[in-house]
Amino acid sequence: MQIDISKAQQFLAAGAVEALVPQVKAAQEALEHGTCLGNDFLGWMHLPSSITPEFIAEINETAKVLQDNCEAVVVAGIGGSYLGARMVIDALSNSFGWLQTSKYPRILFAGNNIGEDYLSELVDYLKGVNFGVINISKSGTTTETAITFRLLKKMCEDQRGKEMAKKVIVAVTDAKKGAARTTADKEGYKSFIIPDNVGGRFSVLTPVGLLPIAVAGLDINMLVKGAQDMEAQCDMNAPLESNPAAVYAATRNAIYQSGKKIEILANYQPKLHNLGEWWKQLYGESEGKDGKGIFPASVDLTTDLHSMGQWIQEGERTIFETVVSVENPNTCLEVPSDEENLDGLNFLAGKRIDQVNKMAELGTQLAHVDGGVPNIRISISKLDEYNIGQLIYFFEKACGISGLILGVNPFNQPGVEAYKKNMFALLNKPGYEAESKAIQARLQ
Ligand code: PA5
Repeated sequence: MQIDISKAQQFLAAGAVEALVPQVKAAQEALEHGTCLGNDFLGWMHLPSSITPEFIAEINETAKVLQDNCEAVVVAGIGGSYLGARMVIDALSNSFGWLQTSKYPRILFAGNNIGEDYLSELVDYLKGVNFGVINISKSGTTTETAITFRLLKKMCEDQRGKEMAKKVIVAVTDAKKGAARTTADKEGYKSFIIPDNVGGRFSVLTPVGLLPIAVAGLDINMLVKGAQDMEAQCDMNAPLESNPAAVYAATRNAIYQSGKKIEILANYQPKLHNLGEWWKQLYGESEGKDGKGIFPASVDLTTDLHSMGQWIQEGERTIFETVVSVENPNTCLEVPSDEENLDGLNFLAGKRIDQVNKMAELGTQLAHVDGGVPNIRISISKLDEYNIGQLIYFFEKACGISGLILGVNPFNQPGVEAYKKNMFALLNKPGYEAESKAIQARLQ
């Protein structure tokens, strides 16, 4: 993985990134020694290097049970309890896999919304399908996930019988508390524990991400290996220039301090759409607090050049762009030649599609920089488990450092409770009587 900040630095005062080195160093030390804000949630820091072959084997064994017994597996989870798995599975699976016969179950995601049509359509889709469920919730009480699991549990039991349902429903939750734990223990489901000291958005390398990824037939060993190597590379004693997480954290904070408040994560591979979704949650929930924080947005290019491109090029100059670029495609496809050349495309004949994409990427970078958009470029050699594992740890470590430079607790999310409190009050959840009264008075 490489990071190039030269096209961001040209927008900054000389030495602006280097000036943050002491803060980066202090943040890294505080993370390492557990002296920072949110220090009860630092389990992700050395998570990759603590994963044992036995643990990987246990996940793969459970994945095999689901693979052998299910045509589809629904991952029920929201936020950090699904975005990581979705990101990895999308990035590394055939984009049109559902058209083909795959030897692995189709992975579906639910429990991340309360859309009645979405859930009805899911229930319809699963009629007659041999499906299983991975119920993922650290708290074990998240409403979106709980409603979905209630529906799916009943349906799975009705369709497949109690005994088979027991085999193909797996819980990933807290060791002791929450309804998901109570149900798993009572029903005798296989379950995995989300460590107390790993927050949801930092949990993709726990069973939260590893189990669904393994069920999809991907190599979690290589994913973890990539993360382990990045963990070593981002060691607090590494000099700034060879620690990509430190470089990224320092650069984006220097840009933020220069007045650019919005960071757009861009990709040139549709398979990376959910990298943007995962990254937005990681950074948004970690940094957006105390009236501070870079607003994380994402675009899929070149697709969104035809929707957001105008704004990026000429809108309010409060943005900067971080591009995740993939150097080599895993396949080979050329633009065919055409004798008649009716579309005038023969100047591209014989060129790899990826060559065209790369020129679009370079042309866009030049245009956006000309338009006043600082550019950070992160590149990986190809889309595979190892490189995605590297990206995961890189973004996590940079997020921890970045949030501490900003002066917030990157590991809590107090703001998420506000909507829940109102929703429970409006739905008359027991225990919310006072809030219910207050909210009804406001709505008069
Ligand atoms: O990062 C976080 O902690 C959150 O986004 C959670 O992952 C999300 O709210 C889901 O919570 P839970 O796993 O408790 O259902």
